[in-house]
Amino acid sequence: MIPTFVFGWPTGKESGDFLALDLGGTNLRVCLVTLQGEGKFEMTQTKYRLTEEQKHDEGQKLFDFCAECLKTFIDTNYTDGEGKSTLKPGETLPLGFTFSYPCVQERIDHGELIRWTKGFGALNTEGRDVAEMFRNSIAKYEIPVTMTAIINDTTGTLIASSYVNPKTKIAVIFGTGCNAAYMENVKDIEKIKSLGIDDKAQMAINCEWGAFDSFEHEHLPRTKYDVTVDETSNKPGEQAFEKLISGRYLGEILRLVICELIDEGVLFLGQDTYKLETPYVFETAFLSLMESDPTDELLMIIGIFTHFFAVETTLAERQFFRALAMLIGRRAARLSACGIAAIVSKMGYLDEGCLVGADGSLYNKYPGFAERVHEGLIDIFGDKGRNIVTHHAEDGSGVGSAIIAAMTKVRRDAGLYPNV
Ligand code: BGC
Repeated sequence: MIPTFVFGWPTGKESGDFLALDLGGTNLRVCLVTLQGEGKFEMTQTKYRLTEEQKHDEGQKLFDFCAECLKTFIDTNYTDGEGKSTLKPGETLPLGFTFSYPCVQERIDHGELIRWTKGFGALNTEGRDVAEMFRNSIAKYEIPVTMTAIINDTTGTLIASSYVNPKTKIAVIFGTGCNAAYMENVKDIEKIKSLGIDDKAQMAINCEWGAFDSFEHEHLPRTKYDVTVDETSNKPGEQAFEKLISGRYLGEILRLVICELIDEGVLFLGQDTYKLETPYVFETAFLSLMESDPTDELLMIIGIFTHFFAVETTLAERQFFRALAMLIGRRAARLSACGIAAIVSKMGYLDEGCLVGADGSLYNKYPGFAERVHEGLIDIFGDKGRNIVTHHAEDGSGVGSAIIAAMTKVRRDAGLYPNV
């Protein structure tokens, strides 16, 4: 439960041009967001692919790469027809840095990485202030930006969703990783009691719920496949809740079940199954496709197994794989409902109801994920569970980051930095 130093909700009137750099999982993204007030905005963005090596190389090199991409983006977007910069001499652009890993923050533009998640493992970064590391890279490449805020994707999603729909009280990400954010009363945040922040203020909390039950494994029921996923990961013991839910792991869970049945001689007898034996080759996107296969013969599933893994399947096997995908996907959604229910209960949102802004590849692409979350909420709360409604959120890592950069600028200009 991490205090984010994002104070309160946006007014919807935030306006101006802001940059956002999003380092969150699969891609690196640079966005230019023009906030137009009245909850409206426009956005231009460029995505850059991150290699597996970059995720495990020296951390400073990763931030250097971020800075290089940022420089290319600015050179492209702030240059006139004759190749001259359109920025005034000495002008810097405000930048929100969306860094979607658990960080302890002491102020909005500081963030000490607690641990990498989602398979990242860049060296010499854990325990260090990533804002400062990124600032060093910005200085090295002489990029005309001022990094005003470091933001988790869930906090960005909370703020972006509220900017366009003020009924949003909670934000969740179900993607490569999973997590949630909500707005808390400062008076109830023990961790920042000593800072003497105005008691009437509110602050967003980055729950980092992916870490729930890590190491102890006391609360979440795990199968032997979950235990293997955990023990063979680059971070054994950590992110216990996330490993049951997020897109990075669901395909791997299914693959482990298949491998066990191959070893027992139940599946694919006499076929060469080596392609299924590499960890993480079975993508979570395959589970989505398997669940949404509309044909009686399950032709999509035939396609996946022949094309990617060079094995033939019988109809009975395909029906079994689909049933398995449904179990894994459904469990992920229902556990996610538990997380949402915990925040709803803590904040007393059940009677009046609230919107939950949700984003991430699982939520957006996995068939029936949202419906299963809603089913779970009704099982937990009874009919009142219908008051809690998830909806596809605005782009928190881009737009949300820009809005938070804008909110921070307003507060700084009013002399309210670092705290209110
Ligand atoms: C990270 C969170 C992030 C979530 C969704 C998790 O692995 O720890 O900070 O919000 O993934 O991207």
